[in-house]
Amino acid sequence: MSRFPENFLWGGAIAANQAEGAYLEDGKGLSVEDVAPHGWKGRPTSEPTSDNLKLVGIDFYHRYKEDIRLFAEMGFKVFRLSIAWSRIFPNGDETEPNEAGLAFYERVFEECAKYGIEPLVTLSHYETPLHLSTTYDGWRSRKLIGFFEHYARTVFARYKDKVKYWLTFNEINSITHAPFLSGGIYTPLEELSKQDIYQAIHHELVASAKAVKACHEIIPDAQIGCMVLGMPIYPLTPAPKDVLKALETERENYYFSDIQVRGYYPSYTKRFFEEQDIQLEMTEDDLASLKETVDFISFSYYMSTCESTDPNQETGEGNILGGVPNPYLTASEWGWQIDPEGLRYYLNNLYDRYQKPVFIVENGLGAIDKLVELSDGSKTVNDEYRIQYMNDHLVQVSEAIKDGVEIMGYTSWGCIDLVSFTTAELKKRYGMIYVDRQEDGSGTLNRYKKKSFYWYKEVIESNGATLVE
Ligand code: BG6
Repeated sequence: MSRFPENFLWGGAIAANQAEGAYLEDGKGLSVEDVAPHGWKGRPTSEPTSDNLKLVGIDFYHRYKEDIRLFAEMGFKVFRLSIAWSRIFPNGDETEPNEAGLAFYERVFEECAKYGIEPLVTLSHYETPLHLSTTYDGWRSRKLIGFFEHYARTVFARYKDKVKYWLTFNEINSITHAPFLSGGIYTPLEELSKQDIYQAIHHELVASAKAVKACHEIIPDAQIGCMVLGMPIYPLTPAPKDVLKALETERENYYFSDIQVRGYYPSYTKRFFEEQDIQLEMTEDDLASLKETVDFISFSYYMSTCESTDPNQETGEGNILGGVPNPYLTASEWGWQIDPEGLRYYLNNLYDRYQKPVFIVENGLGAIDKLVELSDGSKTVNDEYRIQYMNDHLVQVSEAIKDGVEIMGYTSWGCIDLVSFTTAELKKRYGMIYVDRQEDGSGTLNRYKKKSFYWYKEVIESNGATLVE
């Protein structure tokens, strides 16, 4: 028996910068991603370089019709994508939007509507216009609040009849580690003080709340959520010191959702600010704006991690926010530790904390896939490992539903292969649809259905009944 509610939103997710390509087409301006050929760790290049795979992506810009048709074939109820801010406002600080950019997403949403697929749209998914970064140092400047609100109001007004699910900032908590790609901050991380970073975060949180308010005003029947990088942090040992350290580190992440869901700074920030010597500049208007809270909480989930007070414990690989590896878990080829039960644990924690609906908007396995030819000449990928990963995570989602957590839906990350975010590679594939584009930029860009394509189709058709516990 399926435990998934009848209206459960099954689907997949992509982001503009990792899929669209066409980085300068139809008036688009440069975004921070266009000058980050090697992911979040390197410094930006002075201009786009040919080794930046995102400049072409998977050419979703020209192939969206074919891709959405494939999503429909899998039975998607929802498709998460982002709007590239720099397609709408090429520099970010203009008054008038770029009509060609607006028209592009209009066509995409119309295509979704043909198949009854609800778009779930992220306003900002690591795509700050580059000009805002180089001229204002990104979110360090209070001016970005106004620019972002103007952008948000523009797209809400334009798509109010077409989009009913919105998210503000993708993985908003990643800014502490990746200030350039996450917060458009041009100054290198090592030159930034905690004060600088938390002031930028404050601006982003105010901007997010203003977008929430605008959405509620312009599209009263829409729902808008926050989006955090979800990563449960376990104490490495039961030593009380480790437990407390895990609590503190977890709060560094809850900080973002606490403010976006509750509408004010939580009490634990007082001590944190004192100890870190942070004095935020906050206006009365900021505090009033923050009170406009999100309708639901969305998050990405790939892994959990551990925290320890032992200085000899080394940090492992992970989704931006690394941590100490858990000796009880195995890892993906990229060293991200696989923890399906952590998803149930995290869902329960979020719901216990906020009693608001939650939406899993990213989850999946980045792996090296091999395209093989079958006897009938067709090509596919036998990605049993991905099916196993997704099955195990979805079983835990169903357990969380049984626990009483209100879950709106699940959009698997990179439902079609795309360029990875952290390392900007193409060989790290997440899709249920293989895209023939290789690490050296070669390939036909043809799409092929992987084994997981047919598996996910059945999961959706049966509303989760075919999952194996
Ligand atoms: C999240 C991002 O960090 O994880 C996505 O929101 C990203 O943009 C995904 O692609 C997986 O990370 P990666 O580096 O494997 O692509």
